[in-house]
Amino acid sequence: MAKEINTIGVLTSGGDAPGMNAAIRAVVRQALSKGKKVKGIKRGYAGLLNEEIIDMDAKSVSDSISRGGTILQTARCMEFVTPEGQQKGAEICRKHGIDAIVVIGGDGSFKGAQKLAALGINTIALPGTIDLDIACTDYTIGFDTAVNTAMEAIDKVRDTSTSHERCSIIEVMGRGAGHIALWCGLANGAEEILLPEKFDNDVDKLIERVVSAKKKGKQHYIIVNAEGIGHSQSMAEQIEKATGIETRATILGHMQRGGSPTCKDRVYATTMGAMAVDLLCEGKSNRVIGHKGGEFVDFDIDEALAMTKDIDEYMYQISESLV
Ligand code: ADP
Ligand code: F6P
Repeated sequence: MAKEINTIGVLTSGGDAPGMNAAIRAVVRQALSKGKKVKGIKRGYAGLLNEEIIDMDAKSVSDSISRGGTILQTARCMEFVTPEGQQKGAEICRKHGIDAIVVIGGDGSFKGAQKLAALGINTIALPGTIDLDIACTDYTIGFDTAVNTAMEAIDKVRDTSTSHERCSIIEVMGRGAGHIALWCGLANGAEEILLPEKFDNDVDKLIERVVSAKKKGKQHYIIVNAEGIGHSQSMAEQIEKATGIETRATILGHMQRGGSPTCKDRVYATTMGAMAVDLLCEGKSNRVIGHKGGEFVDFDIDEALAMTKDIDEYMYQISESLV
């Protein structure tokens, strides 16, 4: 017999992402609509261990759907990586009557959810990260907003780069993954997209391509560089020294993580939040929700964590042929 769920906790963990608030709101309101109580756990697993637990009602999530960041705050917590920390977390859940938790975060956060599930607290995880680096899903909460923010910023850099006939390196986030760089590179029509999954570290060849583009009459040379490669400033200096073409580096940084979520992030995060509650009410646990092949689906967390993801090969190929 599936365990009956009376009180659902919700937390955000790891890096924040636009759309997390829409997911929290959906969890709270869907749970209330099903007669469940909801507790918000502040500051991720750190807040769980510090018992930063608040009652949530429909009003607690008013005016949040359009806001970036996370109203529950987020944190990284090393104590929760230890078995003792996880045991303590499960006991605190029981003490506060929390019999299920929705965890919104990246795959590090999923591992925490997996551990809580093994300790008897039913868990559902939602993919919340701007990096799109979660293997079981084609969509992660925040990616759409982040790439739109970065795209607009890169358009602006491109304007001034063209006026000054410069080379510009724009570094985007993504940790070790190149999804943000690839999407921005395509959306901005960049001359060059440097992805950790593909870049051969041959800066001399890159310099040859910059020179050749200049000879063909290109008025700018836009390089979208992924954070996983980094070194944008030193690369810019190398290019300028070797070519005589003025080169500037811009690191977009945390601006990519903030801002009002796009329509897609609001709607998908809302759907995933509501679905998490539905799954918990069906007695499911240790599941992660994803979006694959045009549908919202759920996977066992252990299976999801074992999956691998590469960047889209065809998108990468066309990024090379369309310059
Ligand atoms: P993300 O969730 O964005 O991948 P992190 O990798 O920083 O971000 O993970 C967020 C938090 O999840 C960590 O600070 C930690 O509290 C928890 N976590 C990460 N790995 C584990 C693990 N192996 N076991 C339990 N909890 C973990
Ligand atoms: O995972 C999201 C992300 O923004 C990555 O793209 C980036 O590498 C990292 O978080 C930055 O983390 P912090 O906010 O701790 O600097």
